[in-house]
Amino acid sequence: MAVSSAPGKVYLFGEHAVVYGEPAVPCAIERRARVEATQRSDSRVRVHAQDLYLNGFSVEYAGPADDRPTVATDQSVLDLGMRYIDGAIDRARDLADQPEVGLDVTVESDLPLGAGLGSSAAVVVAGIDATARELGLELDSEEVANHAYKVEHEVQNGEASRADTFCSATGGAAKVEGDSCETIDAPNLPFVVGYDGGTGNTGELVAGVRALREEYDFAASTVESIGDLVRRGEHALDAGDVDELGRLMDVNHGLLSALGVSARSLDAMVWAAREAGARGAKLTGSGGGGCIVALDETEDTPTALGYTPECERAFRAELDTEGVRREDG
Ligand code: MEV
Repeated sequence: MAVSSAPGKVYLFGEHAVVYGEPAVPCAIERRARVEATQRSDSRVRVHAQDLYLNGFSVEYAGPADDRPTVATDQSVLDLGMRYIDGAIDRARDLADQPEVGLDVTVESDLPLGAGLGSSAAVVVAGIDATARELGLELDSEEVANHAYKVEHEVQNGEASRADTFCSATGGAAKVEGDSCETIDAPNLPFVVGYDGGTGNTGELVAGVRALREEYDFAASTVESIGDLVRRGEHALDAGDVDELGRLMDVNHGLLSALGVSARSLDAMVWAAREAGARGAKLTGSGGGGCIVALDETEDTPTALGYTPECERAFRAELDTEGVRREDG
């Protein structure tokens, strides 16, 4: 049996624009997905997934994805989750040169699925690492990041950057620009996350921004403006200027709204955080629903979010400097 975990992330800046080669700064947070992989004596693959924000599901199959049984839960969320898990298992089996080997795989996650906290990247990173190790193959974190990116890229129909998977595999704060990914120094920022209980479909949201960008020059300029903002943000991060980081987060949220990826619930949480005195607040991840991230070292923002009807839960999130980690001793 091999068990690996990998952290989720928030975007300080730069989601969506990163897909077009602009820089982004994702930060790993201390909330993880854990994957346990155990080789079976037959060639079946059995996946049991327990997400604290879903009711959990269990699926057993032997053939290709089309033969899947129907399961009584939100089928679209289940399908999406299963495609990432399948992708990770298949990739690791291929890498270990054992494409037909049977496995029992258990997934547990502290991260809501499809809500902007990088749950899919964390599951894919931990899944590749655990499955590969169970099959006798040790990969370093950059190799895991690279293979996890390929899985996300495929599942999201080519609409993925390296940001989520790199950040989850290596931990800490990262700067991602095209194929260049590096870990950067960052203070432990006072992140507060607000979650509306909903999800966004990353592939569809990214495709929507792509269409807007192709149709309107102003949308293409908006994407470039996000890149300029991120470059400013890097200086603020270097200088430890939390006020400036907050101001830039506010602007970043406005630019993402202009690209059509915010939602009423996300805007409501962003405004609740700002009115409570947060240094800044923005949606995180692909948007459409899910999470916002705010900067506030006081209890005012978590308290205000707790009273915001659109917010299902609010919590503090510490920067996690550790990426993919073995949990089986
Ligand atoms: C999703 O977490 C972040 C996006 O920028 C897509 C990606 O980078 O792959 C929207």
